[in-house]
Amino acid sequence: MSHATASAPLAPTRRPLPPGPRGHFVLGMIPELRRDLLGMYRDLARQYGDVVAVPFLGVTTFALSHPDHFKHVLQDHNRNYHRNTFFNNIVKLFNGENLFTTDGDDWLWRRRLMQPAFHRQRVAAFGALMTDSAGAMLDRWQTQPDGQPLWVDREMMQLTLRVAGKALFGVDLVGESHALGEAFTHTSEFVNYRLGAPFPAPLFIPTRRNREFQRAAQTLDRTIYALIRERRRSGEDRGDLLTMLTQARDEDTGESLNDEQVRNEIALMMFAGHETTAVTLTWTFYLLSGHPEVERQLHAELADVLGGRAPTIRDLPDLRYTRMVIEESMRLYPPAWGVARQSVQADEIGGYHIPADAGLSLIINNVHRDPRWWPDPENFDPERFTPECSADRPGFAYLPFGGGPRLCIGNQFAMTEAQMVLATIAQRYKLRLVPGHPVRPNPIFVLRTSHGLPMTLERR
Ligand code: HEM
Repeated sequence: MSHATASAPLAPTRRPLPPGPRGHFVLGMIPELRRDLLGMYRDLARQYGDVVAVPFLGVTTFALSHPDHFKHVLQDHNRNYHRNTFFNNIVKLFNGENLFTTDGDDWLWRRRLMQPAFHRQRVAAFGALMTDSAGAMLDRWQTQPDGQPLWVDREMMQLTLRVAGKALFGVDLVGESHALGEAFTHTSEFVNYRLGAPFPAPLFIPTRRNREFQRAAQTLDRTIYALIRERRRSGEDRGDLLTMLTQARDEDTGESLNDEQVRNEIALMMFAGHETTAVTLTWTFYLLSGHPEVERQLHAELADVLGGRAPTIRDLPDLRYTRMVIEESMRLYPPAWGVARQSVQADEIGGYHIPADAGLSLIINNVHRDPRWWPDPENFDPERFTPECSADRPGFAYLPFGGGPRLCIGNQFAMTEAQMVLATIAQRYKLRLVPGHPVRPNPIFVLRTSHGLPMTLERR
């Protein structure tokens, strides 16, 4: 991956600050954010436009909702927009410094070391793992009593946890290493809680939550360090990320990662890589359940391409509609509903002044539902993703995996997994939402379903 050459940030300007709400005199927009975060950003864009100044607890942040502004920040001027301080502090709580939290040369060095682990051919080697894991889940589903719902959100989390654990460091986090799997789940729950709580108790106060987190973090540390030591000792090449990280050496400097750095990257990949894919699949099954005509077309493609056999990596280019269903699902419910940055120097965006060291939120959910780029935006229609329909759309109007040099490193992995798993499940079952169950987006770190997703199974 090449590091895009960013032009120098614009000089500070005399432009006006962007418009925006006053909010509560102390809390700013915190009450609105807690009530309905996505609705708040949608309404702000409708009322004030594509660049909005949003106050939170006396600090002004800037919300962006235009593809050109996304391109400006993520690509053209990416060197002027660093990781957001607020989010970095939370991610560092349990991951330490890693690919996600670093900037500049430190980031570039890590990205170069890790990029090969995510090359297309490397990811392709995990195809069988993905379908086998989905197949094992379906065998378990067979014993589900007729009409009794399954929690599809939890099933998908368990499946993607298993796939990520095996692919990244060769461990079954649902089977023999379930204690480590649970430690991952607990720590990411804790990070989600810290994001949502306006005044969380500092870590040194022994609340029940803090103690649980410390215990889970200790389990994580103990087990991951043992895995790293064992891999270094045996020198075994399993073709996974752990092998790459323990053996990687910078071509120019010869520098390699120490145990703590490997631990941080592994924990990050688990955190970034499994819940995002799980919610993608969860929302996809929810949407299919309400759109039988899309589901019929999906089934027709699966019958045509696979004729009842398990999908392999070689089938993916032919499973075009399957891919479009997933793409459209990520448009309506982007797992990463926004990305955050911190300006380095002052800049100008959309004719407005953006001060130095300011927090910016790029609201992907707004751009994905904007009628300027998506006619009839609330409608679920995978046909939007045919090459013809996509041709005239601005590049940064669709960015479930972000954009610019910090584009998601796992995007191939995620798309491959989502396609393989959807094709495997949809060949055997139709999933139906339990009537009357409330389903709303719940934006924490990733966009979850608000009350889980219970569904009944119909054999095909
Ligand atoms: C559907 C699934 C996924 C979605 C929607 C997603 C989304 C994203 C987005 C939007 C970013 C950019 C964040 C930013 O610019 O601030 C990102 C970065 C990242 N993602 Fe993903 N991701 C997914 C799956 C994965 C997987 C499977 C992995 C790894 C196994 C992964 C690892 C990462 C890492 C390490 C970064 C930081 C990259 C960097 O800063 O250089 N993601 N992801």
